Amino acid sequence: MNHFHYHQGRLLAEEVAVEDIAASVGTPFYCYSTATLKRHFTVFQDALAGLDATICFAVKANSNLAVIRTLAECGAGADVVSEGELRRALAAGVPPSRIVFSGVGKSRRELELALTTGILQINVESEAELAELNDVALALGRTAAIGIRVNPDVDAQTHAKITTGRKENKFGIEWIHAPRVLRAAAALPGIALTAVAVHIGSQLTELSPFREAFLRVRDLVLMLRADGIALSRLDLGGGLGIPYDPRTDLPPDPAAYGAIVRETLGDLGCAFLFEPGRLLVGNAGLLVSRVLYVKEGATRTFVICDAAMNDLVRPAMYDAHHEIIAVRQPAPGTEERDFDVVGPVCETGDTFARGRRLPPPAAGDLIAFASAGAYGAAMASSYNSRPLVPEVLVQGRSFATVRRRPTYDEMLALESFPEWLS
Ligand code: LLP
Repeated sequence: MNHFHYHQGRLLAEEVAVEDIAASVGTPFYCYSTATLKRHFTVFQDALAGLDATICFAVKANSNLAVIRTLAECGAGADVVSEGELRRALAAGVPPSRIVFSGVGKSRRELELALTTGILQINVESEAELAELNDVALALGRTAAIGIRVNPDVDAQTHAKITTGRKENKFGIEWIHAPRVLRAAAALPGIALTAVAVHIGSQLTELSPFREAFLRVRDLVLMLRADGIALSRLDLGGGLGIPYDPRTDLPPDPAAYGAIVRETLGDLGCAFLFEPGRLLVGNAGLLVSRVLYVKEGATRTFVICDAAMNDLVRPAMYDAHHEIIAVRQPAPGTEERDFDVVGPVCETGDTFARGRRLPPPAAGDLIAFASAGAYGAAMASSYNSRPLVPEVLVQGRSFATVRRRPTYDEMLALESFPEWLS
């Protein structure tokens, strides 16, 4: 469910015409809906009713300050993976007591910042990191509340580049070593072992991998209890998929996911932490672009638009599907044809869709790539020296630019010539 729909032939974001935003900020731009963000948060929260749950939004999915603040106002915390994301979460107003720091390679400086900020939990992913964190904590005279991320060796049945819970992946402590490492962590003076954490991948469209992973976590918790080590919190990560292609994607209902959590882990008396990213923001965002040219190639017809792979890399990187919506509603009965929708970047990978059946777009038309709120702007680059595109947040009848387009002078200002070239 989202709040992008046609009204009198025009695509609206809540109550604002997308073409009015385009006229104001220029194209391409990202457009987010506050009502959709809030709705997704509420749906997830309701799915976890009855559990003592902290929902930490995975900031990597959309790191815009206004988006983080919108979710924080709903009660979300933040799951961060870098100093930059930690600073963003704090700047957006997320209390440190609702921040978890994840990631396989945190630097000493990042560990120090996390400790001095007094965040809820640091998730440790290796024995070497555990030793480093213990050292940092003792040097600062603090105790680090940690989760140990375990790798349950479960196949998430998702794209290979975003599966994280197989033993060949770089993430977490290998399953067979987990009991030993958890026991060692419990004995370290700078460490307060609080949680076990698991995250098996992203865009999961089946529930069975979650069940399998959660049952493994259950075994681990019970095994440690028998040893006198009590874990007070279970961090179950993120990963719930969303329907990118409404014809083929049938992601699980968050309520069914909540039921699995209750069924597998609900009786352990632990608090829970969740790290959803895509589920909260994915369908709350569009990337809006203008068609520059329509070109008849030898065998295909290309729609060349002003957005490119540097603005939304998911199709090039993961062969991801994003629905393409005409911002002006096509007249009923408009005959659809097959198009390749591409951007201006100089490589063939800069293709948003191949052979996509669409009402014929014309030069000057606005189109929108749907479900672009997660891993869209957050993964954008300025490849081909294209400026990062603005981000606009809509609420009801209002919209605001929450990240402006940099000027070319600003883009060039970070660079300088070495003295031998001056
Ligand atoms: N927690 C951890 C430790 C993670 O690594 C991730 C995502 C999440 C939570 C949030 O997962 P989500 O709920 O969003 O599935 N760029 C890729 C997705 C990468 C996901 C990385 N980790 C894409 O565009 O599909």
